[in-house]
Amino acid sequence: MQTISDVNRLRQKIRQWRQEGLRVAFVPTMGNLHDGHIELVTQAKGRADKVVSSIFVNPMQFGAGEDLDSYPRTLEADQKRLVAAGCDLLFTPDTQLLYPSGLGEQTFVEVPGLSDLHCGASRPGHFRGVTTIVTKLFNLVQPDLACFGQKDYQQLAIIRAMVRDLNLPVEIVGIATVREADGLAMSSRNGYLTELERAIAPELKKTLDLTATALDEMGLEHRETLEQQAQQRLAERGFEPDFFRICHATTLQPATPGDQELVILAAAYLGKARLIDNLTLTLS
Ligand code: PAJ
Repeated sequence: MQTISDVNRLRQKIRQWRQEGLRVAFVPTMGNLHDGHIELVTQAKGRADKVVSSIFVNPMQFGAGEDLDSYPRTLEADQKRLVAAGCDLLFTPDTQLLYPSGLGEQTFVEVPGLSDLHCGASRPGHFRGVTTIVTKLFNLVQPDLACFGQKDYQQLAIIRAMVRDLNLPVEIVGIATVREADGLAMSSRNGYLTELERAIAPELKKTLDLTATALDEMGLEHRETLEQQAQQRLAERGFEPDFFRICHATTLQPATPGDQELVILAAAYLGKARLIDNLTLTLS
């Protein structure tokens, strides 16, 4: 696996693959790779001839007071994991390359509506940062397809909308959430949890499961009660819930009776860590 930071070298390599008629898949990340990221690479490998991954801790998607400076940077370990997974090229651009005119005054890409809900409401500007960097990375790598985790359900929905609305020639593939044995969704931010918090953390997924079962039995007429009960359950266990919402699976608006394809979106603080998780379900 080659690690490339330079745009010209990246473009040259991709051009060569294209001339050979090879299909290129892309897995963008912010590094500190775990089994969830590696699953994306494995799935990408199964769908294309070459896999490009990127590691870039994108300052534009972090708000003031968030963990940009402390975000774990583990390049050597990440490279080893990517080699083992069969990644062909790792792109590691620096901030100067991606933000030549600085973070303040520059062109951006935004998906209004979807970007303002849920995580977007709690983290203003976050999704603008994500859609802008993903567009830039797509322009640099020019992949045929790109894999994103369903763990970040809203991010995936927003990227799908962006690709559709801007006619970007990239197929977006969503990959199921990879979990620890006790159900906790893998995340770089799990590393912020103390031992005690780590023991409590699986309760987020458990609360999603319990809510899905109750919803199946009681129906969407009881949506708000179920959302409140879930938040209360989380608070009793030491979380500080940000939101817990039963939504329509594609519009991400509050679900209403008659909706069938649903997603339950949850975000909660546990100590220093902001954990997110979700569960999709179909009501009959
Ligand atoms: P990052 O948090 O590093 O995640 C990179 C990719 O891995 C995302 O598509 C994310 O959804 C996926 N992922 C994370 N945890 C996962 C898990 N447990 N199971 C399956 N997939 C998982 O998401 C970002 O970086 C950034 O916003 C990025 C898209 C790279 C733009 O900067």
